[in-house]
Amino acid sequence: MVEEMRLKTKDLLTLNELDKAELLGLVDTAIRMKKELRRGISRPLLKNKTLAMIFQKPSTRTRVSFETGVFQLGGHALNLSADDLQLKRGETIEDTAKTLSRYVDIIMARVYSHEELELLARNAEVPVINGLSDSFHPCQILADLMTMKERKKKLAGLKLAWIGDGNNVCNSMIYGCAKAGIEMRIATPKGYEPNAQVVRESSRLGEIRISNSPEAAARGADVVVTDTFVSIHHQTTDRTNDFLPKFQVNSALMKKADPSAIFMHCLPAKRGQEVTSDVIDGPQSAVWDEAENRLHAQKALMAALLSKA
Ligand code: CP
Ligand code: NVA
Repeated sequence: MVEEMRLKTKDLLTLNELDKAELLGLVDTAIRMKKELRRGISRPLLKNKTLAMIFQKPSTRTRVSFETGVFQLGGHALNLSADDLQLKRGETIEDTAKTLSRYVDIIMARVYSHEELELLARNAEVPVINGLSDSFHPCQILADLMTMKERKKKLAGLKLAWIGDGNNVCNSMIYGCAKAGIEMRIATPKGYEPNAQVVRESSRLGEIRISNSPEAAARGADVVVTDTFVSIHHQTTDRTNDFLPKFQVNSALMKKADPSAIFMHCLPAKRGQEVTSDVIDGPQSAVWDEAENRLHAQKALMAALLSKA
């Protein structure tokens, strides 16, 4: 039962804070909450609780799924654009964290710098959830693992190909796959590899292969994943020439994967860049389930972080 699930960590900043049992437990809880919601059952696990959502960067899925999720669990969400807070006028992250902790029960923040998020979490008395930093996107990977479990009926033993940028989403995916027993093959252009320390830590738990060959990564894969070549924190740099045409997920690359492979993308997507329309809008695509699952995974996460069980 979700009420009984409790996490050892106060915050979720990378995904590495969760041990294997906690990670798999959250995935299963989220799947159960999704089924319950379909049957019209929604338990008030966050009754009278308030979530503060700080956004330094734009968001569609994270913003709407967190706010909707808290509402469905009987709580209330505050949307705080960083521009509207005194942060904009130089109030420190530390003082903001201490102040918010006196009002709200939990904080979710989407920030440019992961170090700032760590500072926020260190100074907050309440749990802090990373809603995307330049280095990690743990909530996305909770939803992605949930999507894989729903579609493939298992996690351990799957082979996942990550094609493109070894970015924030990729870093959290490495932690998630290693803990869940998923073999991860990562294909990036030279210079776009994921965080070396994340790879080192996770290699002790699971198999991670890094190459510059999308074909080698995709061969026989159960899941093919990509993300934008230009993350929000990169928006001033034109990086796409370093990726195209070799690192695009198209039907030729999908043919290298297992015939029943699914395609995943955290969204937003740029059709014609990291993925072609026929793949993301085709029968192998799981992207809309993946987007929906953000809602269920984050409900499970918030309930567990605030659980007193
Ligand atoms: N995948 C994701 O985090 O989407 P948003 O940027 O729209 O929140
Ligand atoms: N890597 C992307 C993910 C967006 C959800 C970014 O950081 O912009």
